[in-house]
Amino acid sequence: MKNLFDITDRVFVITGATGALAGSAANYLASQGARIVFLGRSQEKLDAALTKCRTITLDAQCIGLVADVLDRPALEQARDTVLATWGRIDALVNGAGGNMPGATIPPDKSFSDLDFESFQQVVDLNLHGTVLPSLVFTPAMIEGGRGSIINYSSVSSPQAVTRVVGYSAAKAGVDNFTRWLAVDMAKRTGGKVRVNSVMPGFFLGEQNRRLLTNEDGSLTDRGNTIISNTPFGRFGQADELHGALHYLLADASQFVTGTVLAVDGGFVAFSGV
Ligand SMILES: NC(=O)c1ccc[n+]([C@@H]2O[C@H](COP(=O)([O-])OP(=O)(O)OC[C@H]3O[C@@H](n4cnc5c(N)ncnc54)[C@H](O)[C@@H]3O)[C@@H](O)[C@H]2O)c1
Repeated sequence: MKNLFDITDRVFVITGATGALAGSAANYLASQGARIVFLGRSQEKLDAALTKCRTITLDAQCIGLVADVLDRPALEQARDTVLATWGRIDALVNGAGGNMPGATIPPDKSFSDLDFESFQQVVDLNLHGTVLPSLVFTPAMIEGGRGSIINYSSVSSPQAVTRVVGYSAAKAGVDNFTRWLAVDMAKRTGGKVRVNSVMPGFFLGEQNRRLLTNEDGSLTDRGNTIISNTPFGRFGQADELHGALHYLLADASQFVTGTVLAVDGGFVAFSGV
């Protein structure tokens, strides 16, 4: 019988691929035989990521290209390079994103103190930085007759998570865009190009370490609140997202589109009581 999870030689473009979650996913997908395009903003970080990928999987098929997700000409150039190298594009993983310190309302401030410029920047990165790569890379998937787009949502999208107003609004926008584009692509391609999101719960990384842990590694009050609202009682590990991504990228999910798959230790299912 056909292996529904076979992704050998599929060409996956991954933005934010020098970051924690998308970088870990890129290495895992390369280890499963996919051809990986690491997109990032820094050549130096890309070089380090490629070295790591080839150390983990000796015959890894991976290339690194510099592109800011808000820079259309750079994305178009990256797309052309991928098509010239491997002749097709089978998936886009929109892994670039995250919160920004200036867009977070500190504990002693309120919405009235919101720095609107930072709000706009965080929406730019998370929402527009998902829409623009999708715009640039979908034509190649439509033409190739196969495609899977995966966006990164957040548990701050379906419910209010205090202090992260811009990030939450942007991720709610990403969820709606996921559904919108899923419907558009389904109708235009007869289901050949699919669009879904993963919704990570809380994964400790450089972006949120300051908010969630103290210098000695103990939890901050916010970190404690999050853990007590996560039925698993812990933060997630980057490799716990691999299975969700693999499923959404592979033929195993070929009738699945427009969904948001939570990988959150039960955070969004829990009422907190
Ligand atoms: N870590 C978590 O707990 C968590 C939870 C929910 C959702 N997410 C989402 O998962 C995704 C990955 O997050 P992460 O924790 O790995 O963060 P990360 O900071 O480690 O990775 C994000 C990457 O995006 C890149 N990036 C930022 N701006 C960019 C731009 N303009 N153009 C191109 N690249 C840019 C960064 O350089 C970085 O490599 C993000 O969308 C984030 O919002 C993370």
